[in-house]
Amino acid sequence: MKPHLKGIILAGGLGTRLLPLTKITNKHLLPVYDRPMIYHPIEMLVRAGIEEVLLVTGGHNAGDFLRLLENGEELNCSLRYAYQRGEGGIAAALALAKDFAAGSPICVVLGDNLIERDIIAAKDAFLSQSRGARLLLKEVPDPERFGVAVLDASGAKIARIEEKPIRPPSNLAVTGIYFYDETVFDKIARCRPSARQELEITDVNNLYIAEGTLEFSRLEGWWTDAGTFESLLRSQNLIAQRVQRPSRASG
Ligand code: G1P
Repeated sequence: MKPHLKGIILAGGLGTRLLPLTKITNKHLLPVYDRPMIYHPIEMLVRAGIEEVLLVTGGHNAGDFLRLLENGEELNCSLRYAYQRGEGGIAAALALAKDFAAGSPICVVLGDNLIERDIIAAKDAFLSQSRGARLLLKEVPDPERFGVAVLDASGAKIARIEEKPIRPPSNLAVTGIYFYDETVFDKIARCRPSARQELEITDVNNLYIAEGTLEFSRLEGWWTDAGTFESLLRSQNLIAQRVQRPSRASG
């Protein structure tokens, strides 16, 4: 794999699960303890040495990202922006990053995904692959809220992924942190809208499974999204603990 990895943060969507908090602002600009939510995925990438970052957003408040983050310098990265019109799903938002990626491998992070530690081990494992993709999996108590991975008999490969299954076949959630080679954009082009009229990132990942090139790492430490009232509150508390007791978090 070409070692120069670029970062892409997807921060669009209407945040309808957080109304009325998101009536006049974008979900990713809401506070998570002491900083806006969007700072956390940016710092996740920068801590992993990924400093060239594209932020994809949309809706009525896109300009606020520019006012808050400017060119990224204060967060030690170089930021670019893309605008997504309408609601097309995660894979449709990612498709807008094709020119930015320009053939480089990429690390994609959903803007409401927060972690306790870092993604350095997963990044190194991905860069040692010759091609394909790598997902980060995490055991959760509520897998029905997420993409759910089923491992094969050896436990070393993902056999399939189901998006928000009513009866989850495992408790392994597919987190919103993904590593892809340059073929991801061709794969997105092969996807068709799902029942909820979105291009699903799970369909893209299943194309990598069909090709035999999907790998995974397990995420150490806590992981949470912040897209519902419960998970936003949980994020606030987890980040507050991390800020107040950093030595425990890094142990
Ligand atoms: C999305 C993905 C899902 C993934 C989750 C992680 O769901 O579709 O596969 O597990 O992000 O946060 P969403 O939160 O957009 O409904």
